[in-house]
Amino acid sequence: MVTGGAGFIGCHVVKRLIRKYPAVRVVVYDALTYAGNLANLADIEGQPGYVFVRGDITDAAAVERTMRNHDIDCIINLAAESHVDRSITDPLLFARTKVMGTLTLLYTASRVWEDDTGGKLFYHISTDEVYGSLGFGERPFTESTPYAPRSPYSASKASSDHFVRAFGETYGLPVVISNCSNNYGPYQFPEKLIPLVINNVGNNRPIPVYGTGENVRDWLYVEDHAAAIDLITDRGVPGETYNIGGGCELSNLGLVKMIISLTDRRLGRPKGASDGLVTFVRDRSGHDLRYAIDHSKITAELGWRPSTGLEEGLEKTVDWYIGNTGWLDNVTSGEYMEYYDRMYGGQ
Ligand code: NAD
Ligand code: TYD
Repeated sequence: MVTGGAGFIGCHVVKRLIRKYPAVRVVVYDALTYAGNLANLADIEGQPGYVFVRGDITDAAAVERTMRNHDIDCIINLAAESHVDRSITDPLLFARTKVMGTLTLLYTASRVWEDDTGGKLFYHISTDEVYGSLGFGERPFTESTPYAPRSPYSASKASSDHFVRAFGETYGLPVVISNCSNNYGPYQFPEKLIPLVINNVGNNRPIPVYGTGENVRDWLYVEDHAAAIDLITDRGVPGETYNIGGGCELSNLGLVKMIISLTDRRLGRPKGASDGLVTFVRDRSGHDLRYAIDHSKITAELGWRPSTGLEEGLEKTVDWYIGNTGWLDNVTSGEYMEYYDRMYGGQ
């Protein structure tokens, strides 16, 4: 059962599992919030093995019914609110979904599986943001870096991670966690930096860069993350945590300039045509300066490493967004536009 399977990372995970393991049934359990979109899974609709259930992870009865109806032996938990800026305007929603939602899943799984945990797995997808903010020159996060979340997004995620570990220790639930760096690629909702820049270049709209644009993120192509999730589901050791990262640190401003240049080229515009769209705006409150992941454990123990370089991944991403304007128009209409005005209006 893949919770949040209709979202950005989830849809890549689900499609990979369906294509690679024809004998496995994959139940997508998703509430279809603004970030969940069945169009993300259109390629596999009707395929044997794929089942969609609309449901909320905070709804214990619905989770239990789905687990029992489909004889679920593995949960990959990707259901979450995922945007830091939204967590600043609506922290209670993040606590509800990520803390209470994850706790509800854990509690239900521990009851449904209580007679036999053999061959079962509760796999929780977390983020590098729980480790807090690194200074320039500090060593990347390892699995033993203490948690130090600084936003409601990362605090609610950290809380859910602690509950996952607590259920491993207290109830013997076979749990595993992975903490991944920033993902990018097709089907990412265009409130996140990379698709937002591609979309705004395409529409000649200003590109909001928070603060000075010096903040650094470690970028990973989403299909590499899906490959790591597949591997951990198969061979990850219960009780363990695995860090996943792209080994690809870049400042926001450097990244924005790369995307502008790739998008202009793809649209056949002259070099530098959209450079003037960059607009420095008020910084995000509590904006983490830098994230960087040391992924040597998963490389040594499971043989995973990122396989898509940044330039290649960005080219694929730009191509996908420019070739899928229907998808983009659909998700940028209505609610999204109001949100956009609220977040960036007047700047
Ligand atoms: P997303 O926002 O694109 O998708 C989240 C999905 O969860 C959506 O399909 C949404 O409908 C669903 N959902 C939300 N609330 C729900 C609820 N209460 N019940 C059931 N479904 C619900 O997010 P994403 O970028 O795909 O991220 C997935 C997970 O991976 C999140 O936990 C996120 O914190 C984590 N993560 C994301 C990144 C990244 O860069 N995107 C990096 C590391 C970790
Ligand atoms: P985002 O994609 O929201 O991911 P996260 O906050 O989880 O790292 O943002 C990536 C970086 O880009 C982050 O440092 C905030 C910055 N940013 C901007 O400068 N402008 C924007 O419009 C957005 C959405 C983000």
